[in-house]
Parts: sequence; structure tokens; C-alpha cells
Amino acid sequence: MKSRQITVIANWKANLPPSEEVALAKAIAQEVGGALQAAGRPANLRLLLAPSALGLVPVASLLRREYPEAGVEVAAQDASLNSAGAFTGEIPADHLVGIAPAVLVGHSERRRDHAETDEVVGGKLARVVAAGLAPVLCLGDDLPNAEITARVTYVQAQCSAAFAAAERAGCSAAQLFASGLVIAYEPVWAIGSGNPASLAVAEAVASGLRNALNREELPVLYGGSVDAASAATWFGTRAVRTGLDGLLVGGASLSADRFAAIVRAALTVTEPA
Ligand code: PGA
Repeated sequence: MKSRQITVIANWKANLPPSEEVALAKAIAQEVGGALQAAGRPANLRLLLAPSALGLVPVASLLRREYPEAGVEVAAQDASLNSAGAFTGEIPADHLVGIAPAVLVGHSERRRDHAETDEVVGGKLARVVAAGLAPVLCLGDDLPNAEITARVTYVQAQCSAAFAAAERAGCSAAQLFASGLVIAYEPVWAIGSGNPASLAVAEAVASGLRNALNREELPVLYGGSVDAASAATWFGTRAVRTGLDGLLVGGASLSADRFAAIVRAALTVTEPA
């Protein structure tokens, strides 16, 4: 059986100025580069760093110029709903081409702080796909005390609303899947709270999404208070066998040591190239 691709994404949000993002990328590339080499450079592990908009170009250039063998790539935290043009302050997806192969879309902080509705999220998905980039669609319930089935239903509905809006913006489900779409399940109550969802919840949501979309191979990551200690659980063989495909890491990715520990946990389930 072909092993699943494991993806680990560092989401630095707006925590650091670009000079510190470059220093952090350097420290991560050095620590992770050694670990990857020791593990035989696994072909089924993808590592992405998502700096702020200001850090995208310097971090991407650093990784390309100084650490090409580390295989660490850059992801954008967001892209504009608009194409290139008179849109002050926006970053069109087209302009990320050659810099960031993947783009987070619909992070709950964007939904909360920038009134990003499912319609906006779907429109952004369409822009990212049209630019030839891979969207990382972030979904998550804000139901801290709900039963698992309620969470699954909520996230399925959120996903279907984003897909429907993408379709209205000219991007079919088939195009979304062909783009390299990854879904990140990030329960709102788990982000930054120190209280991650249980493996059972994350697995139920992942399989609920795959069933609803009729797509067994859909990659689903988990995000929300992942740290070095919990990464071992997330990368336990059971999680990987049943289909969690990696992690989206916020706070713990702001330290090279903590992020490298998460990558080392991922390496226990990857295979040498
Ligand atoms: P956290 O953030 O790991 O700090 O909870 C995750 C995210 O928001 O992507």
C-alpha cells in the first residue's frame, strides 16, 4: 500500500518581524535538515513554513539559496479575493507564484477578524487554484462541548459551503482536488488554548469529510494547540493508518527546537526515499 504523504505546516501568524522570521527559518532549516538526512530524506514528508506577508520573499529566498537540500517550502497565510489591480493592501494569489506553492485559506482568525464568510473563503479558493497554487482550506467548529457527531456535521456543512462558493466563483470540486487541496481541521476552541482536540474527534472529522466528499485520499491535517509533546500522539501509527495526514502548528512553531521535535515525531511514520 502506498504510504500517505505527511504534511507539517508552521503558521507563524503575525508574531514576528521579517528579520526574526528569517532567523527562525534558518534555525529550523538547520535543525530539520540534519534530522531529515538522518532519516534518509523521506519522500512522503512535506514541510512548509508560513511567515507573515512581509517574510514570504526573504524566507523563500533564504531556503532556496542556503538550504536547498532541506526541502522546506513556504506557504502564504492568506491571499486576496481579488485579482491583480487597484486593491490597496491586497496580495493577489497570482503574485505568490514562484514564492509560495501553498496558501492557507479561511483560517478561523481571518473568519473572526476579517469577516471572512464561506462565500469569501470559496472565492479565495478559486483564486488560489486559478493561480496554480495548492489551497490549505482551514475548517473548524466553535463547539467546545459538543458531541463528536455535531462537530462532524458542522465541519461537513462548512466544507460544503466553501466548495459551493468556489464553484460559483468558477472553480469546480474536481479542480479543487486536482490543485493539491489539503484540509486542515482546526477547532476554534483548540487554537492557542493549550487544549487540543482528542485524536478521536480529529479522526472522526477527517473521515466525515472524506465520506461527504466521497474522496478517500483527501489529505486532512489537524491544528490547534499541537506541541512537541502531543506530536507523538498525532503521529502515532494509528492516526496515520486511519488517515490524519499531518499537522498545522501555530505557537509551537515559533521555536526551532519545538518545531524540530514535531518534525522528528513526523519522521517516525515516514519512509526513506
Ligand atoms: P496553535 O495555532 O498551534 O497556536 O493553537 C494553530 C493555528 O491557528 O494554525
